[in-house]
Amino acid sequence: VTPKSILKDPISLVSHEMSQLANNIGSLIGSGHPTLNRIGAYYFESQGKKIRPLMVLLLSRALSEIPIEQRNRIKIDDLDIPDQPVYPGTKSLTAIFKDPVGPLTPLKILHGISPNIILDPLTKPHETLPEFDYKRGILPKQRRLAEIVEMIHTASLLHDDVIDDSDSRRNRPSGNIAFNNKMAVLAGDFLLGRASVSISRLRNPEVIELVSTSIANLVEGEFMQLKNTIFQPNVDLIENDTKIIPQPTGKVPVDIHEYSVSLPKNQTITHEQNVEAAFEYYIHKTYLKTASLISKSSRSAAILSGAQDDVIENCYQFGRNIGLCFQLVDDILDYTQTSEQLGKPGLADLQLGLATAPILFAWKENPELGELIQRKFKNKGDVELAINEVYKHDGLNKTKILAQEYCEKALGNLRAVLPESDSRSALEFLTNAIVTRTK
Ligand code: FPP
Ligand code: MG
Ligand code: MG
Repeated sequence: VTPKSILKDPISLVSHEMSQLANNIGSLIGSGHPTLNRIGAYYFESQGKKIRPLMVLLLSRALSEIPIEQRNRIKIDDLDIPDQPVYPGTKSLTAIFKDPVGPLTPLKILHGISPNIILDPLTKPHETLPEFDYKRGILPKQRRLAEIVEMIHTASLLHDDVIDDSDSRRNRPSGNIAFNNKMAVLAGDFLLGRASVSISRLRNPEVIELVSTSIANLVEGEFMQLKNTIFQPNVDLIENDTKIIPQPTGKVPVDIHEYSVSLPKNQTITHEQNVEAAFEYYIHKTYLKTASLISKSSRSAAILSGAQDDVIENCYQFGRNIGLCFQLVDDILDYTQTSEQLGKPGLADLQLGLATAPILFAWKENPELGELIQRKFKNKGDVELAINEVYKHDGLNKTKILAQEYCEKALGNLRAVLPESDSRSALEFLTNAIVTRTK
């Protein structure tokens, strides 16, 4: 039976880890330059939703409820992370020119611990293990994974606010405004560099490959958004969904992007085909831009727990479905919420020329909107007309229904492979909360 307090506050199950998140990230991102330190830490200072690390931690905890007999043995190396170097702040000029990463510390082997025992020795194995950490079952690498995911996400936000020319984020001036474009871009790159060090220190080739691929996916998704190829004549390649297939070695899954010609060449394309292709493009773009990070880190959390293949696959699909759901809701909120409510610019997508699900649903009913979409709503009155059409054709409700479908699929993935537990209930609660959120 799940206590009501946990359902009210699913975060309480991982509050210990969540409370350390900012501090731990802080120790991973120091640089030799004070200004770079300030910008790098800037987005972590204000309260973001931290939904991604929360998901990774709760999923890791729920995975630890799977009986040991149904899991692969966890390699002893996977019980620990090599010591993270402590990065120096800028105390003197010499610090600036020193390599702050320092030499790699060899893997610490934990002696005397049965590989079958799932425990949480924290990142400092010499410390005495508190009883509650032992029971919680979140492995140090899974916790580090949660930190890495938040670092990558934050790096992408620094870049996104430059690309979108935003003026606010988390109720504060965005990085590009508080500093400037050049510094915001470099700070994002720096965070990515630091995240890469931490990824490599996870010392698990499959996880390293997955998380690194998600960085590339973010950029691919952002690029697809920038270059909406299907609305450009003579370009008829549509990227299909990303599939993860085992390599011949059977060890490290790699991503392949399958391309298929969705729009027939030199033929008249019907309106229905055009809309269908646009949705296909939009969903794949959304997968890459938003869902890939959470789906690949969910997969990684499962791998680190020693889970079997069907569990790993369902965790991956869970992340994919919840990520798609998250962005669909984001695309609704862009229409319905004010900048004050969001803490970032509202009604931004149409002004940026972006055709998201609500307007695609309206276009399905009114083919004439195709021209507006194609010219990225840049003529006078286009944005206002598009908004009217979205409401007229119920575009927001239709998007919500689609988001709910992905939410249901995500819940199905959890229930398929995770035993009932507080952590699973909390994950289900969080999954539902993503649909009903208002910011
Ligand atoms: C927010 O979308 C942005 C993303 C989910 C990803 C952005 C990715 C890049 C800028 C590519 C570069 C990536 C890295 C890792 C440096 P949004 O603009 O729709 O949301 P918003 O309303 O929160 O701004
Ligand atoms: Mg943006
Ligand atoms: Mg953007």
